[in-house]
Amino acid sequence: MKKAQSLILVIFGASGDLTRRKLIPALYDLHKQSLLSDTFAVLGVSRTDMDDDAFRDHVRDFLPKEDAGLDLFLKRLYYLSINTSDVNDYSHLRNRLERMRHELNIDDNYIFYLSTPPILYEVIPSNLAAVNLNRSIKGYRRLIVEKPFGTTLESAKILNQNLLKYFKENQIYRIDHYLGKETVQNLLVTRFSNAFFEPIWNRNYIHHVEISAAESLGVEKRGGYYDNSGAMRDMVQNHLLQLLGLVAMEPPVVIDADSIRDEVMKVFRSLTPIKETEIAQRVIRGQYIESQIKGETIKGYRQEEGVPSDSRTETFVAMKFFIDNWRWGGVPFYIRTGKRLPTNVTEVVIRFKPTPHHLFHRNEGITKAENMLVIRIQPDEGIVMRFGMKVPGAGFNVQNVGMDFHYSDLLHNRLPTAYERLLLDCMQGDATLYARGDAVESAWSFIQPILNAWENNPGIPVYGYPAGSWGPEPALHMVEEYDWRFPCKNLSSNDNYCEL
Ligand code: BG6
Repeated sequence: MKKAQSLILVIFGASGDLTRRKLIPALYDLHKQSLLSDTFAVLGVSRTDMDDDAFRDHVRDFLPKEDAGLDLFLKRLYYLSINTSDVNDYSHLRNRLERMRHELNIDDNYIFYLSTPPILYEVIPSNLAAVNLNRSIKGYRRLIVEKPFGTTLESAKILNQNLLKYFKENQIYRIDHYLGKETVQNLLVTRFSNAFFEPIWNRNYIHHVEISAAESLGVEKRGGYYDNSGAMRDMVQNHLLQLLGLVAMEPPVVIDADSIRDEVMKVFRSLTPIKETEIAQRVIRGQYIESQIKGETIKGYRQEEGVPSDSRTETFVAMKFFIDNWRWGGVPFYIRTGKRLPTNVTEVVIRFKPTPHHLFHRNEGITKAENMLVIRIQPDEGIVMRFGMKVPGAGFNVQNVGMDFHYSDLLHNRLPTAYERLLLDCMQGDATLYARGDAVESAWSFIQPILNAWENNPGIPVYGYPAGSWGPEPALHMVEEYDWRFPCKNLSSNDNYCEL
């Protein structure tokens, strides 16, 4: 892999949770693989009063202490305490960056990472521009913006307009960590490097597509954030629609940022809007309620810290919709996601149409052919194809079997984390796996009418579902003619409800 260029990465929100959990560990992994330039430094910026040494100690506390490389890595970290909302503090930032560049012999390249509360997404870029940190003649300036990118269509549009006042579109990297997952990128390779999938990847052969992202944890300590978001904003509007974009897009002309993002954009523009009158049937929302799992009482959502006791925020969504284009006309797509489901699994299921004529008997209890391709995003990353095989012995009885590939079988099977991949891409100026402004707005355009209908019609139910179940009853039977696949942690297992 190509090494990143010489640069300073400025992390706003350096004392925060994302920096601790994702950014610094990803940078450390890149450092250990020698993928960072020899002249690379991180400048952590936030309000907390610390000096470089205190910041390094803080980072040392959450990184594994096993190797000598850690000290070398820590030496690359610097810290500046400013009030990020106050434009007057930005001259300190500019001076500090210039000093670091000269002392450390770093090129004139800066990446600014906004890992702050979203309220600062408009303030920081404008303050950077006020001290000319948004432009450079000799090097580059890039801005990484974390999710959530807006909380409504309107706010996403305003955010885009404001960012574009100070940075050009090709300087803005809107992160969606799902796109950084190895298995999500592998969707493109599976589809477009194999001749046998693409001819059948369309309405003539595919019965329906399911995208499921199940999580067994609840909202943990994030109740305050989550209650203003809900599953639709937290998972569907961004991660799962981006995943859909890669499943449903046309082959791009070449693999580059614009070609791929143009095709994803076309998918979003072809999403058939769900009419207000159809929302109650086609989009099921749910909220987990207290239950007993293996003798232990699991709290309901309304009992979680930071959640109001009368909250109607959805922790589960299952929806059915269509893509109105030549390839997908009439094929139902289903998305399902939720907290406190029986297992932790994200996967895409392509269910193929059955043969036109049924020649053979199926084994007892198996009435339907399982011609399906399961693309497992996580865990037990891999792919399984399920189809009918003859049961050995007399007659022609058929049973469903699976043929599987697991990433863990590869010799070099370390899967880089999403943040590792995305940070390196940004350092190399590759925005392919970042969301483009128009696509983010387009995804919001599809979701916003649903959120409006929910808000305006309290009669649309929020169904309770017991923590640890597969969601509310009406969602269980929404897949036309089939059931959802109920995934197990292990990709190849196929027993319903195996985690319960
Ligand atoms: C985040 C959401 O963006 O994605 C979380 O805010 C969710 O609520 C997480 O748990 C899921 O990501 P992953 O990588 O764990 O599947």
